[in-house]
Amino acid sequence: MSSKTLFQAIKEDHEEMYLYHDEYKRARTAGDVDAQARWARQLTWEVARHAVGEEIVVYPLMEKHLGDKGKQLADHDREEHQHVKEFLYRLESLKPEEESYSQTIELVMASLHPHNDDEEITDLPMLEAVIGADASREAAQNFKKTKKLVPTRSHPSAPNRPPFETLAGLLAAPADKLKDWFASFPTEEEMGQAKEELKHRDHDAKAGRAAAAAGQQ
Ligand SMILES: [Fe+2]
Ligand SMILES: [Fe+2]
Repeated sequence: MSSKTLFQAIKEDHEEMYLYHDEYKRARTAGDVDAQARWARQLTWEVARHAVGEEIVVYPLMEKHLGDKGKQLADHDREEHQHVKEFLYRLESLKPEEESYSQTIELVMASLHPHNDDEEITDLPMLEAVIGADASREAAQNFKKTKKLVPTRSHPSAPNRPPFETLAGLLAAPADKLKDWFASFPTEEEMGQAKEELKHRDHDAKAGRAAAAAGQQ
């Protein structure tokens, strides 16, 4: 099992958001609208995947282990996510070259910074103190699993891949539905074991075909 704790996994994501935001601003300063659009996409999908992962894995843990305080913190966090999601929806109808696009990106980040800081300063230390290091690492694995299953960008060629065909679609999907969907995949541990087995596999295509041909004769 990876040694990363939930705090570390979440903080790493927050840093990623800030990095993409900086890249976005650099592209904007350089007047490179294409690069701006690419970094904005990277940033917004990262934010969306992160928010989904927290809503599925982290906030339910806070509610479960931190009593009334946990419920209160989780509700507050979900409310802040909702503000961010509304800005992300708005962004979908704007173009990167428009002034309002950059303004909306800045609103996203202005909402996220204090929210992320609260998670790092209050929520996660409080949660980890109660659940302990092992459960924190397990939660980090679950969190990473949810993120892996959400694509990093929309797949216009795969419209039947529910429920994430667009960023708006992902954000609109109810957390319960997403939770069920993630639970229908193997756990990180199961995947780890399968990958271990993969190291010892070596399918011999030629031998297999020769055996099949011999069998047909
Ligand atoms: Fe969050
Ligand atoms: Fe976060």
